[in-house]
Amino acid sequence: MNTVKAIYPGTFDPLTNGHLDLVARGAKIFDHLVVAILKNSEKAPLFSVPERVEMITEAVAPYCNVSVATFDGLLVDFVLEQQAQAILRGIRAISDYEYELQMALMNRRLAPLAETVFLMADEKYSYVSSRLIKNVFELGGSVDGLVPETVVRRLQAKAQVTTAK
Ligand code: PNS
Repeated sequence: MNTVKAIYPGTFDPLTNGHLDLVARGAKIFDHLVVAILKNSEKAPLFSVPERVEMITEAVAPYCNVSVATFDGLLVDFVLEQQAQAILRGIRAISDYEYELQMALMNRRLAPLAETVFLMADEKYSYVSSRLIKNVFELGGSVDGLVPETVVRRLQAKAQVTTAK
């Protein structure tokens, strides 16, 4: 029987409910979905990679066909190593499209057999990004309902460490 495995790559610093909504949709379409955290992002992360692995593992626990992994280097090398057939990415607004199109076409050039599949998260998350979550939280705003509970707890723990310093 042919099974289809997809890789959902990203920085996930932190995972948002928009990401999680995409995981839920991807888990319905693909036989297996791997949420893949990029290890060496140029961005200075708020959460370490092990912290992100823990949070995402907790958040995706209800989905038995979803796993969490990390990768370094080219995404397509990881896709081939995993023997996956697809790359899953979310598109929120038209502003995401250009960057996503460039990545999808570059990845296709590098690995013609790996198809990029775009899904749209629920529109109620269309304005939610990891960057805005960090910004709002750091300035004392509420991010409840926009990120999984496990992320809220970790953000609060980080804030406590910062105030204690
Ligand atoms: O969450 P992000 O930051 O939008 O995710 C971007 C990510 C991790 C998918 C992208 O930067 C990536 O795939 N990086 C790995 C390096 C690579 O393959 N670069 C060429 C892609 S065209």
